[in-house]
Amino acid sequence: MKLLHLDSSALGTQSVTRELSAAIVARWQDAVPDVNVEYRDLDIDPLPHLTGRSLAKADSAEAEAAEATLQQFLDADVVVIGAPFYNFSIPSTLKAWIDRVAVAGRTFRYTEAGPEGLAGGKRVIIASGRGGLYGDTSPADFQEAYLRQVFGFLGVTELEIVRAEGVAYSPQHRADAMAAAHASIRSPLAQAA
Ligand SMILES: Cc1cc2nc3c(=O)[nH]c(=O)nc-3n(C[C@H](O)[C@H](O)[C@H](O)COP(=O)(O)O)c2cc1C
Repeated sequence: MKLLHLDSSALGTQSVTRELSAAIVARWQDAVPDVNVEYRDLDIDPLPHLTGRSLAKADSAEAEAAEATLQQFLDADVVVIGAPFYNFSIPSTLKAWIDRVAVAGRTFRYTEAGPEGLAGGKRVIIASGRGGLYGDTSPADFQEAYLRQVFGFLGVTELEIVRAEGVAYSPQHRADAMAAAHASIRSPLAQAA
């Protein structure tokens, strides 16, 4: 079993999502001893913005790195993503990664019946960190809602969110939110909602 672990927080050791994504991956390692974990820190090792030159494959080194990124996603059975809420959305480093894995003909295609996701059969677990309180349905949420939309579009039907929110309200809010988030991490052997 292959697990791809991504982090994208810019807050280093103070990061909520790094702590949660690491805890989720540790649970998988405990439950599935032969799990093969590949890790990428998108904050330290970001992908370039997708540009016209990228689409034209003008830079062969960039095209090679993009293909490796896409293949790593396709190969993963489980993808754990540390995804902070920045400026009502996700960090641009995580968006840059999504731009390399949302590829027509590889992870989705359009048919006469509409779009079809081609990257199903994997589990995606989002470690979500939010300074404010948004819940499940806020119109200001372009983070979790966006990630649900993108991965659903790619064919992922098993997406789970582990969320700590309101962490900027006070140290107590943060501690309580983190305790609740840790407690909400599901057994790797359970099915996603
Ligand atoms: C650049 C930046 C932008 C942020 N924008 C928002 C925001 O729009 N709304 C919000 O509620 N919190 C915002 N926050 C707070 C983060 O959501 C919060 O710090 C959360 O813990 C981020 O996850 P992380 O600790 O893993 O980086 C922002 C934080 C940073 C550093």
